[in-house]
Amino acid sequence: MRPLFGCADKRGLYKNRAVCRPYFFAEGFTQTLLSDIAIPVLVKILDVTQDYAVKDLSLAKEGKNHIRWAEDHMPVLMELRAEFEKNKPLLGKTLACCLHVTKETAVLMKTLKAGGAKVVLCGSNPLSTNDAVAAALADEGIYVYAWRGVNSEEYYRCVDRALDHKPHLTMDDGGDLVTRLHTVRKELISGVIAGTEETTTGVIRQRAMADEGILEYPVIAVNDAMTKHFFDNRYGTGQSTLDGILRATSVLLAGKNFVVAGYGWCGKGLAMRAKGMGASVIVTEIDPVKGIEAVMDGFRVMPMKEAAREADIIVTVTGNKNVVDKEDFEVIKNGCVIANSGHFDNEIDVKWLDEWTKGDYLDIRPEVREYRLPDRRKIYLLAEGRLVNLAAAEGHPSEVMDMSFANQATSARWLLAEGGAKNLENKVYPVPETLDREIARRKLLSLGADIDVLTKEQKEYLGSWMEGT
Ligand SMILES: NC(=O)c1ccc[n+]([C@@H]2O[C@H](COP(=O)([O-])OP(=O)(O)OC[C@H]3O[C@@H](n4cnc5c(N)ncnc54)[C@H](O)[C@@H]3O)[C@@H](O)[C@H]2O)c1
Repeated sequence: MRPLFGCADKRGLYKNRAVCRPYFFAEGFTQTLLSDIAIPVLVKILDVTQDYAVKDLSLAKEGKNHIRWAEDHMPVLMELRAEFEKNKPLLGKTLACCLHVTKETAVLMKTLKAGGAKVVLCGSNPLSTNDAVAAALADEGIYVYAWRGVNSEEYYRCVDRALDHKPHLTMDDGGDLVTRLHTVRKELISGVIAGTEETTTGVIRQRAMADEGILEYPVIAVNDAMTKHFFDNRYGTGQSTLDGILRATSVLLAGKNFVVAGYGWCGKGLAMRAKGMGASVIVTEIDPVKGIEAVMDGFRVMPMKEAAREADIIVTVTGNKNVVDKEDFEVIKNGCVIANSGHFDNEIDVKWLDEWTKGDYLDIRPEVREYRLPDRRKIYLLAEGRLVNLAAAEGHPSEVMDMSFANQATSARWLLAEGGAKNLENKVYPVPETLDREIARRKLLSLGADIDVLTKEQKEYLGSWMEGT
């Protein structure tokens, strides 16, 4: 939990709280005092080449326990780790990863290291870093630059520090690392062989770069693998978003009007799970096909402005901006809880909310900000409008990240085997289907399930056209 300090204003509400931030002091950094109440320097230089910036290294033991728990629930990635240890497919390569620093990411980092890579990690969201996990990774010899609660300047300083290691491969979640390389750190691009991208929003950004002809190396869209978005986006986001909302608010879902903005992979999972907990689910969409799908799945579909009047809880998962905006805030029901589980914090127009209410808020519980609107209605914003499942809970369960990160590891191995930029074009590639299906096969086995095998006759039948009515 982030330490918060503040004082009561005239009306007894807390406002303008200062956030306790660490000093940032490591090789390549200048020492920066970021607030009057900064906590001490917690960065150790291990040797001349290794450094890291984490909140509290003494949390390493706790972090290692979290990682062990995740390892026990990620059988496919652990199987890959054994192969990586033996064959060293990443030997001599430096990987710069910009990912949520969770226990599952730690399992991936350790797998890449086992494959012979030098692994560098920075966070991909200001509120998603698990400080204990970051400490454990630093202790394990991963170059990690992340702590929970970085401000925007610190965030990009961490990204830059990761890039300072001159990566051969990038592993991004949301596209900030790749964008930084193609804008501010262009001098490093020639050394990059290829990259991978974890999430829908990052894939959209990198496709846009490729379409504009400015993407300078091939990228694999890990998000688009079947074994990624069918499970991670749907079941992972579905469950972990509710987990975040419940940990933050402890509200009863049964009987609540629960609005899901966006009926894509994440939205479908969330709507399904909220319905399962007894909520009455309303969907908002901009795509008529998704709208029909939601109606036929049994949900009410309406524009946000109408939904906001009824909503007890609103969650955005669209990858779009200002999905809940000024006009919606003007009609939103008193007491509404509002959260975002899409990649960026611009899905809810928090900037406008802050301006409108002149920062009149109270952090009433961890990750719950009570805003008092000018007409005395109250609304509760979770996790400052950032990914609620990572900021208020632990992100997706390890079991789904097992497949997502197996895709990351096998894609990195595949990209190096293919020679990266030498043999591939500067565009966004899908995960090769054989890799995707192999991950599914391994996961299925690990779940103790099995499927049938096509007979020779069935195979021929499926490839023929003569047999009919
Ligand atoms: N919370 C997490 O851990 C997590 C996990 C995976 C993906 N994501 C992020 O969640 C977001 C959604 O991902 P996805 O895979 O579901 O994408 P998707 O493309 O499958 O679905 C997005 C849906 O939102 C709809 N949409 C767009 N603008 C809208 C608007 N103004 N109002 C209502 N609906 C709108 C689209 O029509 C689409 O159906 C992305 O930002 C992605 O990066 C988050």
